[in-house]
Amino acid sequence: MKILIINGPNLNFLGRRKEEIYGQISLEEINQRLVEKARALNMQVEFFQSNSEGKIIDRIQQAADVYDGLIINPGALTHYSYALRDALESLSIPVIEVHLSNIFAREDFRQKSVTAPVCAGIIAGFGWKSYLAALELFYQGLIQSEKRG
Ligand code: DQA
Repeated sequence: MKILIINGPNLNFLGRRKEEIYGQISLEEINQRLVEKARALNMQVEFFQSNSEGKIIDRIQQAADVYDGLIINPGALTHYSYALRDALESLSIPVIEVHLSNIFAREDFRQKSVTAPVCAGIIAGFGWKSYLAALELFYQGLIQSEKRG
């Protein structure tokens, strides 16, 4: 099973950005932990991070037929990017949206995800382990390819 993990704007600054919310861990460290977990589960993971909405959409459009699933933390794009939502909606493979922080416990503008309704589900609030939980869900085969929304 091959899973693509996409991180959106500013997530390359993890460990240097709002540590009280996102923790001290860097994106490289998170990815390393996910590689180790994937290896233990006999899965393959690939990573993509961009601060550019268009590059993320390009990557999503290339993901169909290549991966079995997508884990995405869209960063702030979560809250307003209908273009990203449309790209996710068009993708034939299942998608899990993840967030390090519990977006529903934060500022009003963060409490809305425009992308979550076209994902299989959302995991938020568990720090880097949100990604781990998403990977394990794919491993356990709990994700249906039918989408909602
Ligand atoms: C985030 C939450 C977003 O609101 C924020 O813009 C981020 C990180 C999270 O992982 O908690 O960049 O997606």
